[in-house]
Amino acid sequence: MAKSVKTIGVLTSGGDAPGMNAAIRAVVRVAISKGLKVKGIMRGYAGLLEEEIVDMDTTSVSDIISRGGTILYTARCMEFTTPEGQQKGADICRKHGIDGIVVIGGDGSFRGAGKLSALGINTIGLPGTIDLDIACTDYTIGFDTAVNTAMEAIDKIRDTSTSHERCSIVEVMGRNAGYIALWCGFANGAEDILLPERYDGDEQALINRVIENRKRGKKHNIIINAEGIGHSASMAKRIEAATGIETRATILGHMQRGGTPTCKDRVYASIMGAKAAILLAEGKSNRLVAYKNGEFVDYDIQEALNMTKDISEEQYAISKMLVR
Ligand code: ADP
Ligand code: F6P
Repeated sequence: MAKSVKTIGVLTSGGDAPGMNAAIRAVVRVAISKGLKVKGIMRGYAGLLEEEIVDMDTTSVSDIISRGGTILYTARCMEFTTPEGQQKGADICRKHGIDGIVVIGGDGSFRGAGKLSALGINTIGLPGTIDLDIACTDYTIGFDTAVNTAMEAIDKIRDTSTSHERCSIVEVMGRNAGYIALWCGFANGAEDILLPERYDGDEQALINRVIENRKRGKKHNIIINAEGIGHSASMAKRIEAATGIETRATILGHMQRGGTPTCKDRVYASIMGAKAAILLAEGKSNRLVAYKNGEFVDYDIQEALNMTKDISEEQYAISKMLVR
């Protein structure tokens, strides 16, 4: 049943992602335009439990749309995974007059959001992660920037790899998901793309392809390896030993999470942030904002968490045809 809210909080949780600031800005400005008060909760659920709560107005979010990271900071918080921690969080919300919360994060953060909602705090989740690994949505805040950052870095690695006629393994982030790897594989014209969802561990086949590519006159051999497979450094050593071709491993790491958000991340994060504030103003709770089939929609949090998704079989098949 719809419950009216007067004051909302907003927090970012889990790994940061470029575009989170655009989402925060939209939450704050749209909520205020709907007559709500807004408080910023610092450092995710950790800051909630520490009562690091600040008043926000429209100027608190001035000049942030183009900035990476999150002005609210972010954290991981074990205490909030316990029923006692969640009850403490809900009690602190009530103490500060917060009757609704926007949680910007990934699946773990949404599990926490679902718990807060069950404890009577109206809660809306926004998908913020570079990994694109949230099942209910085709878009997550930060993926577009991260994949563009990785693509540009891999272009640079390709230059030096060609000059030295080397093989390069580039490891990209994504936790257990291969979306960044797949997209970079396409965008960088990689010779091989290793995805946790599909990799069969057949390193000899990989080595054979490196040898074959060199015979065909390829000056470089870029292998995009997903973090979920890992072991890039030892893989590079084995490939070099087996092929005689100098091989280097580069782990792109956290540079993929920073930087100024792309236009798409700014725009989509703004729309999602606005939608979260509107849902709260309408008295809705336990919803997750998503982008599905070209539309911004919202789902029940538990239903969304029970959904699954996988790399598109068609896209994977096409990527295989392109790596020749
Ligand atoms: P993400 O939100 O990016 O998936 P995490 O999995 O690290 O990142 O989760 C972020 C935070 O969400 C955790 O540090 C914890 O505070 C909270 N959280 C994670 N899982 C749960 C859970 N099952 N119940 C309540 N809170 C959770
Ligand atoms: O979820 C985002 C992400 O960057 C993953 O791609 C990666 O596995 C993880 O976070 C890294 O976490 P941390 O910043 O704690 O090293």
